Amino acid sequence: MLAVEKHMFKSLFGGLVLVFALAAAQATSGQVADDRPQFDGSKLVRPVNYREWVFLGAGLGMTYSENAGSGPQSFTNVFVNPSAHRAFLKNGTWPDGTTLILEIRASASEGSINKGGHYQTKVVGMEAHVKDARLPGGWAFFNLAGPGGLVAGAEPLAPAQASRCVECHQEHGAVDTTFVQFYPTLIDVARRAGTFTDDAAPARR
Ligand code: HEC
Repeated sequence: MLAVEKHMFKSLFGGLVLVFALAAAQATSGQVADDRPQFDGSKLVRPVNYREWVFLGAGLGMTYSENAGSGPQSFTNVFVNPSAHRAFLKNGTWPDGTTLILEIRASASEGSINKGGHYQTKVVGMEAHVKDARLPGGWAFFNLAGPGGLVAGAEPLAPAQASRCVECHQEHGAVDTTFVQFYPTLIDVARRAGTFTDDAAPARR
């Protein structure tokens, strides 16, 4: 082989190796990470990357009693793990291994250039609603914030604390004890799948 040919062969080969290496790296990084609920004993580990999950909707100052006070309103942002979201898009209901996060943020209305309306500020609370066959009853509620801020993990709420959560979610949640009637992109999916309960009465807290 002439020296120049040798050189061309080498660089072509090198180029191919690089292409294969890149393709392999991409295949690995494209793998879907396991986003199922993680438990440490009976404690749910707070998912730290829920902000990379699917955003279902935000409520502002949603209140469930007629005589609620007129204090500062909070935003409630709801996120779900991507694998559960994909399953919901197919079946209109939540699979085993669903984590729904309710992130509660304070609101402000005057700051920077803003003169009206409301925008979100710091996290003031976080709750989770988890469907997992390892939980008694299949579903459980968790409070992921304590007096000192967010916690690393939490036990399911004890029945005495959870009963009002369960009662309202069971009675008023449109799909499988969750408030899909407030998650606009999922309403039609559930209606088409026939899983949407229309008579979920207006909730009261
Ligand atoms: C009176 C009714 C009511 C009660 C009681 C209630 N919730 Fe909810 N919850 C709602 C509504 C309505 C939503 C819809 C989203 C929103 O508020 O922004 C919701 C949404 C949620 C979500 C998001 C996922 C889902 O299931 O739709 C979580 C997590 C949650 N609540 C946790 C709790 C916990 C924990 C408790 C008890 C400490 C509780 N809730 C008590 C009405 C209620």
